[in-house]
This record gives sequence, C-alpha cells and structure tokens, in this order.
Amino acid sequence: MKFQVIELLFGKSTPKQMIPKVTLLAVFAILLFTITPLSYPLFRYSSSSLKNKDSKKPSSVFDDLNESASLPSTSIKKCDIFTGEWVPNPKAPYYTNKTCWAIHEHQNCMKYGRPDSEFLKWKWKPNGCELPVFNPFQFLELVRGKSMAFVGDSVGRNQMQSMICLLSRAEWPIDVSYERNDYFMRWKYPSYNFTMAAFWTTHLVRSKEADSKGPGPTGLCNLYLDEPDEKWITQIEDFDYVILNGGHWFTRSMVFYEKQKVVGCHYCLLENVPDLTMYYGYRKAIRTAFRAINRLENFKGTVFLRTFAPSHFENGLWNQGGNCIRTKPFKSNETQLEGLNLEFYMIQLEEFKIAEKEARKKGLKYRLFDITQATLLRPDGHPSRYGHWPSENVTLYNDCVHWCLPGPIDTWSDFLLGMLKMEGVRSAEERLHLRSH
Ligand SMILES: *[C@@H]1O[C@H](CO)[C@@H](O)[C@H](O)[C@H]1NC(C)=O
Ligand SMILES: *[C@@H]1O[C@H](CO)[C@@H](O)[C@H](O)[C@H]1NC(C)=O
Ligand SMILES: *[C@@H]1O[C@H](CO)[C@@H](O)[C@H](O)[C@H]1NC(C)=O
Ligand SMILES: *[C@@H]1O[C@H](CO)[C@@H](O)[C@H](O)[C@H]1NC(C)=O
Ligand SMILES: *[C@@H]1O[C@H](CO)[C@@H](O)[C@H](O)[C@H]1NC(C)=O
Repeated sequence: MKFQVIELLFGKSTPKQMIPKVTLLAVFAILLFTITPLSYPLFRYSSSSLKNKDSKKPSSVFDDLNESASLPSTSIKKCDIFTGEWVPNPKAPYYTNKTCWAIHEHQNCMKYGRPDSEFLKWKWKPNGCELPVFNPFQFLELVRGKSMAFVGDSVGRNQMQSMICLLSRAEWPIDVSYERNDYFMRWKYPSYNFTMAAFWTTHLVRSKEADSKGPGPTGLCNLYLDEPDEKWITQIEDFDYVILNGGHWFTRSMVFYEKQKVVGCHYCLLENVPDLTMYYGYRKAIRTAFRAINRLENFKGTVFLRTFAPSHFENGLWNQGGNCIRTKPFKSNETQLEGLNLEFYMIQLEEFKIAEKEARKKGLKYRLFDITQATLLRPDGHPSRYGHWPSENVTLYNDCVHWCLPGPIDTWSDFLLGMLKMEGVRSAEERLHLRSH
C-alpha cells in the first residue's frame, strides 16, 4: 500500500527517463548572476536577473554558460538569492529512495515510514529574482576537470549525498575513496573528470575524545583550538572548491586547549578549569581553520563557508524529548534567527569577513554560501523519528539536525550552482571592465 502511494507521488521514472525534463528546465534557466560584495553584515551574494529576449530558441545545456557574452549589462537588477520564501513546486522531488542509492540510512525518511510528503514539494524563491532548480548537466559542465571538497560534519555529508542524488540524472560517480568508511568518501564523475570528496571533521580543529563514552555526542572531548584537524588540512591543497561547514558539535562538553595548555572548558565540570562558552570555542576553531587555509602554499581554490544550518527542536532539547513534527515551511515573517542559531551564524559572518580580507591579499577567493535563512524556514525537512525504526536505540532519537533525502537540503545545490554561475559572470564582467579601459 505504502509502496503504491509512493509510486503515484513520484512516478516510476528511472534516471534516464527524467533526462528530457532536465533539458527542458534549461529553457527556463535564463538567469544571469553577478556579484556585488556589500559591506558587513550584508556581504552576501547579489544576483542579477534579466530575461533573455532570444530565449525562444531551442535550448541546450550550454545556454546559460555563454549568456554573459551576448547580454547587455544595462538591465541588471540586483537581487540577494539568499533572501526569499519557499514556494510550491509540484515538480519536486527530482529523485527518490528508489532512484538514488546514495541516501544515508538515517536520512531515508520514506523508508522509515514518514507519513507526509508535502515537505518534498517546495522550492526557494529569492525576493526579486529566480533561483533555477538544480540542473545536473549544467553543474557538471561548470565543474569539468575540477575538484570539490566538503569539509565538516555529517550535515556536510548530507549535502554531498543530496548532490550525488541530484547529479545522478546526468551521471553516477565511481567510488575512488582512499578509505573504506563513510567519513572520507571520494567520488569521481568520469565523463566530466570531476572529483568530489568529503572530509569528516567534527570541530575543524584537532579533537580527541577525553573519555570512553566518545565518539558519541555525550562524551567529553579535548579540543585543540589553535591546531587545524590534519585529517582535512593536509588534503585540500589541490582542490578547486572547498566547502566548509560546522558548528553543531560545539554544543557538547569540551575542554579547550591553546598552545597545548588547558585554557577553559564548556560544561566539563572539572575543578579549576574556567568555564568558557561554546561560542568562544567555535570562534577560535573557525578562525584557526581559515588561517590554516590561507597559509597553504599551493592552494588556489575558492573557499565557500556554508553557513550554519539551524536545527529545529521544539518543546525540549535534543536529549530532552525535543522534536520537529511540522509538515510545512515557515513564511519568513513567522520565525526569526535567534539563540544558538543566531550566535553561530554571527560568529561565522564575523570570522569569514576577517579571513576573506586576509585571503584577498593572496588572491584567494572566499564566498559566503549563506543557506541559514532559507534553512531556518524548513522545520518540516528533518527526519524527526523517521531516521530509524521505532525500536532502535539511537542517540539522536528525534533527529531535527539532519535532512531527509529528498528534502530541503537539495536546494543547497540550487544555491551552489547559482553561485558557480555568478563566478563565471563575474570574470566575464572583469574582462569587459578591462576592455573598456
Ligand atoms: C559562446 O560565445 C562565444 C562568443 O559569442 C562564441 O564564439 C561561442 O561559440 C559560444 N559558445 C557556445 C558553447 O555557445
Ligand atoms: C524506499 O521507501 C519505501 C517507502 O516509501 C520503502 O518501502 C523502501 O524500503 C525504501 N527503499 C529503499 C531502498 O530504501
Ligand atoms: C582531470 O582533472 C585533473 C584536475 O582535477 C587534471 O589534473 C587532469 O589532467 C584531468 N584529466 C584529464 C584526462 O583531463
Ligand atoms: C506573513 O505574511 C503573509 C503574506 O506573505 C501574511 O498573509 C501573514 O498574515 C503574515 N503573518 C504574520 C504573522 O505577520
Ligand atoms: C539505550 O541505550 C542507552 C545507552 O547506550 C542505554 O542506557 C539504554 O538502556 C538503552 N535502552 C534500551 C531500551 O535498550
């Protein structure tokens, strides 16, 4: 019965059968982005949207890649793609747990009996422009011959797996991992010579479980705030794009070290150790991560800071019966960033700004991948108790941190493609600018 309902909702499309739909999407994807860095706290991506008058011509996946060459720049309208509302999208989702094998067990909500499906049927509509739905062909064309690293926690892995599912309409990757585990996956898209890798790091800096309860979210953990986690920093030098994320692990109890000495802790309840907040630890850690990247001799890539993804526990904390049972997005006027979510986000903006300035001196590019507001509006997108069987004894019983696949996290790929397109337009604009002088 459940089976049939799902087939009705999603259709029986195989990845191949869906290809024509994707190409069609390109017809509508006639947006042109540009970027204007504004000053803090509004230094966000701006995008420019304008309609191509000749858009009736037959479309190819290359259309968007070449617009900058033909379009006049006068009709450009500034727009922040990260501010907007969720609007209905009957065409979503673009994959299911039947068409995509990359869905992590604990994010396979339909498998574990999530009864509602309305949460699948939305897309992000920025105020004042459009953000096209992810086009896998276009994305792979843009990253041909390049490499992308996801550095951070399991929400970063969640994003990468969402992208593998979305890209599967164009191509499945082959596993070229160096390690046999979930934490350091490496994928190659053979036709595009594109490599994507995940580097698992809970805190970005070196961390060590201090007691036997670890590595769960309850054990005490030693954090070396001035030492980047070598598991990723030694690996990313050759990557073209590095997408950093993190934050959620800083809520647990930690002992902070600087210059190899204990400087304080967060809820460690150790005698003679001063209490410092998790925010202190997070700020230091993200600063250390940025500095370490900026010090890499041969790194020539672009650094994206994927901003904090709010969790949505209501009526209690994660370990005190809190849950997320909503089935609809919020409107932007129905909620606002506050508390822990706001603190982490602000720390990110502040440290990003400092790091970006340093990086610019070296010619490195930093970009704010600012999903926080859009994600805040999606309390309905988490697994809640549908990330495992009811009888299973798991630490995060109601998961209001990760995201169901398919689900709202798929939209992060819409943003990423939008940003990559802006990069193209930006360099075209720079060339134009040079020519006119
Ligand atoms: C892109 O535009 C340039 C210049 O207008 C043109 O020479 C080239 O053929 C175009 N490429 C594609 C893929 O359409
Ligand atoms: C996909 O979800 C359905 C329920 O909608 C479930 O019966 C099935 O086991 C799931 N398949 C996989 C491969 O996870
Ligand atoms: C594939 O891309 C890498 C860079 O990521 C490059 O070094 C290599 O030469 C490319 N290989 C081919 C066959 O184009
Ligand atoms: C939020 O905005 C919508 C229109 O987008 C309006 O209908 C609604 O009344 C507003 N809600 C609140 C709580 O202000
Ligand atoms: C679940 O796991 C916790 C910690 O491992 C344990 O204390 C508890 O007794 C377990 N509960 C059940 C029902 O197995």
